[in-house]
Amino acid sequence: MRVGVFDSGAGGLTVAKSLLQTPLFDEIIYYGDTARVPYGIKDSNTIIRYGLEAIEFFNNFDIDLLITACNTVSAYALNDMREVASYPVYGVIEPGIWALEKKGINKDANILIIATRATINSKRYQIEIAKKGFKNIMALQTGMLVPIVEEGIFEGKVLEAMLEYYFKDIATPDAIILGCTHFPLIAKSIKNFFHNKPILIHSGEAIVEYLLSLGYKKLPKTPSMQIYASDNVKNLRTIAKKWLSQ
Ligand code: DGL
Repeated sequence: MRVGVFDSGAGGLTVAKSLLQTPLFDEIIYYGDTARVPYGIKDSNTIIRYGLEAIEFFNNFDIDLLITACNTVSAYALNDMREVASYPVYGVIEPGIWALEKKGINKDANILIIATRATINSKRYQIEIAKKGFKNIMALQTGMLVPIVEEGIFEGKVLEAMLEYYFKDIATPDAIILGCTHFPLIAKSIKNFFHNKPILIHSGEAIVEYLLSLGYKKLPKTPSMQIYASDNVKNLRTIAKKWLSQ
């Protein structure tokens, strides 16, 4: 089976990595819209249009299913994308919330969602998590972490200063939803900031578990992967080499 993985840029490689670590498909076609990243500061119409254009891109590849690794696109464009796609389209929000429930986290626990401005403003995570009965939900826009990760900064003083900026006034959460493709790369620093207490929900791990629960089967062989980008594909391939080995 051939799976498409779509993201606004390089961040979705964190989801591709999970699919390489737990093979469910023979081939991964990765497409990063590097010419137009970041999506997280765009308005809903633009995000939907970009999602629909991604479907057009993947129509050239005869894929069996598409994973929208981008949380921002998952928050706004999934329904529109599903309407025009001839294959199933999965987002990462539903699997993330499914993973939160599956970890058996208490409904009174403090849940922190961190994501781009657009994802937080969509309230998708907040609404769906509340529907599951969780009572203490906090949502924070932490978009400045995206360019830090794009710079290849996964630890150290600059990142710590940014975490301090965002998190200094909040109590240690019991669980954090990493509601942005980039954040798994700084998961260790985020966890350290809160003295290793919170459980972190990672979109890549969540989607793999979710697909397994839907009946997709583990394969014995690591998938092959092709990488495409709307700008500077060479750069994305270099980033992929580095990120996939982290
Ligand atoms: N891929 C985006 C997300 O997961 C983060 C980067 C962007 O703003 O495009 O929300």
